[in-house]
Amino acid sequence: MKVGVLGTGMVGVTIASKLVSLGHEVMMGSRVAGQEKAVAWVARAGKGASEGSFAACAAFGELLFLCTQGTVVLDVLGAAGLENLRGKPLVDVTNPLDFSAGFPPTLSVKDTDSLGEQVQRLLPDTKVVKTLNTMNASVMAHPEPVGGGDHTVFLSGDNPTAKAVVEGLLLEMGHTDILDLGGIETARGVEMYLPLWLRVMGALGTADFQVKVVRG
Ligand SMILES: NC(=O)c1ccc[n+]([C@@H]2O[C@H](COP(=O)([O-])OP(=O)(O)OC[C@H]3O[C@@H](n4cnc5c(N)ncnc54)[C@H](OP(=O)(O)O)[C@@H]3O)[C@@H](O)[C@H]2O)c1
Repeated sequence: MKVGVLGTGMVGVTIASKLVSLGHEVMMGSRVAGQEKAVAWVARAGKGASEGSFAACAAFGELLFLCTQGTVVLDVLGAAGLENLRGKPLVDVTNPLDFSAGFPPTLSVKDTDSLGEQVQRLLPDTKVVKTLNTMNASVMAHPEPVGGGDHTVFLSGDNPTAKAVVEGLLLEMGHTDILDLGGIETARGVEMYLPLWLRVMGALGTADFQVKVVRG
């Protein structure tokens, strides 16, 4: 599949690398084509990897991953071009973390709204699926080293067909326990998990951990 990965941070690089290793064609997008980290990633990833502006990336992908800083996602999608995203699944991995007052960050949106819902409202003709935001980047692409891969990844989104496509990709990436929470409104829950995620990281001294929903 042709996949556009919007974002050049740890998440963008990790997901893009995994998708190339699985045989997908991947373009990484950034504010300006030729961004240093994107160019370095293309050189490392090799065949099937390319880079360009957010707009070029959005036009390229049959499916998009949104992996930019949370507080700027609406600007990023504007730059990507709403017409380039129309009708496509968009996997939203972002968190609404506001570091302006230092660490730990606060949530820039919560309780009555979420970034996932804001993205879906901005892009009514795009099929937004929120997932993977509740784990560290390395665990997103390599679930096995944490507990043998036996942990839970959540899905939120309004479009069942898009969720099925994303579920297929998650299985390809090595995830085994996928829990569909329901519509995009359920993104509030997974985004508001972040304050707890940060405290668990502090207590354990590592970001390589995960949650497992044990059904009764
Ligand atoms: N790091 C993790 O392990 C982790 C885990 C779960 C979820 N997340 C979430 O995943 C997302 C990506 O995290 P990350 O750590 O990989 O990267 P990040 O540092 O949060 O974001 C990097 C990306 O944001 C873009 N960006 C930054 N400021 C911008 C602005 N003013 N306008 C437009 N674009 C801007 C950058 O664009 P350029 O490429 O042009 O520089 C770059 O592509 C975040 O929302 C984060 O909360 C991260």
